[in-house]
Amino acid sequence: MSAKPASQSHAAAEPPPAPAGTPSAHPAVVVRRLRPTDSITDLTDLLHRAYAKQTAMGLHALASHQSPEVTRSRVSKGECFVAIAAGPGPDGARERIVGTIMFQEPSWGKGPRWFQRPDVCNFSQFAVEPSMQGSGIGLLLLEAVERRAAELGFRELALSTAEPDSALVRFYRNRGFRDVEHYDWGVTNYTSLIMSKALPHGASASPDAAR
Ligand SMILES: CC(C)(COP(=O)(O)OP(=O)(O)OC[C@H]1O[C@@H](n2cnc3c(N)ncnc32)[C@H](O)[C@@H]1OP(=O)(O)O)[C@@H](O)C(=O)NCCC(=O)NCCS
Repeated sequence: MSAKPASQSHAAAEPPPAPAGTPSAHPAVVVRRLRPTDSITDLTDLLHRAYAKQTAMGLHALASHQSPEVTRSRVSKGECFVAIAAGPGPDGARERIVGTIMFQEPSWGKGPRWFQRPDVCNFSQFAVEPSMQGSGIGLLLLEAVERRAAELGFRELALSTAEPDSALVRFYRNRGFRDVEHYDWGVTNYTSLIMSKALPHGASASPDAAR
């Protein structure tokens, strides 16, 4: 959802070592980049299960019903991170995807004005397996993109969320995000609230220098 392409933008590319495999307060779960061998169908099914909560509220987010083809296209355009838990997964796999977040999904010059700023990056398609929500996996995923954003030298990490989901808006406010603007993406049946959080700076160069 940004005007700027991510520096490593394809799920098919071998992911960088960091922050892959980051251990955490949730010992059985690690966060890493999506790999070409990960199942897009499983990822899509997870998105549908997680966003069903918003569907039940009458909010029709794209991720609640997008096809695997749309998921594949979206993850190929930014940096997709997944939270992985030890199995058993679908088809007897030894591990399964229990959460996901997209960093720097481009919006090709459309989208909120805040997202077009060169010092602002964003995340989207953020979801955790419903039965595992509230156990800190969402925070792990947020930390992964915050680290990635700081590493690239961005000053602000932004997001777009359904404004009517007031509990979710509170969740982000409690995590340091502030309200920036409203936006209508045209593919949802609600107005989105654009929120943003200042990132610690000084550790990296400017975003341009980081690319
Ligand atoms: C938003 C989401 C990814 C958070 O993941 P999570 O693993 O549940 O988050 P965490 O366990 O790290 O959250 C920690 C805290 O936030 C709270 N929280 C999590 N999701 C919340 C929500 N949707 N509304 C209100 N509070 C929420 C937890 O209760 C917990 O509170 P506490 O620290 O005071 O105990 C997850 O709830 C989800 O998949 N929601 C459905 C999809 C969605 O709405 N995505 C975001 C679109 S912008």
